[in-house]
Amino acid sequence: MPSAARTGGAVAEPERFATEPAADDGERTIIGFFCRECAYAAADATGNARVPLPTTVRSVLVPCTGRVGPLHVMSALAEGADGVFLAGCLEGQCHYREGNLSALDRIAFVQRLLESVGVERERVQMFTMSAADSPRFVAATKRMHATISALPRLERR
Ligand code: FES
Repeated sequence: MPSAARTGGAVAEPERFATEPAADDGERTIIGFFCRECAYAAADATGNARVPLPTTVRSVLVPCTGRVGPLHVMSALAEGADGVFLAGCLEGQCHYREGNLSALDRIAFVQRLLESVGVERERVQMFTMSAADSPRFVAATKRMHATISALPRLERR
């Protein structure tokens, strides 16, 4: 597992939920990039079990979270997303060796970038999970929904 120093604290713990939602000023849009290995399997199991998920999340299937670069994340935010998250394999279990570790570094970079321009870093997060861990996928999705719902809409100028 990479140290917090390496990832800049980018690994999010889905079990820790955000606080109360902000006064509602419209439904948020969250883009979730899911690796087609573990995260997608967990998402698929969630769907098969008919577990209800927040409707704010729009999923994008990617071969590996390592294929998601800072520009993908920033473009999603620039094009209307209020938050973006990556869901990938557990550390040490990426099907492309270290794609998820690269993704963790990139998410930490994007978080620092956002912070430097006054945007909340928690708008961008990454979660890891095993293919069999549907509850962790659900918790990650709900955490992102709660976090983004507690923030104002992302302003674009
Ligand atoms: Fe899942 Fe790389 S294949 S994160």
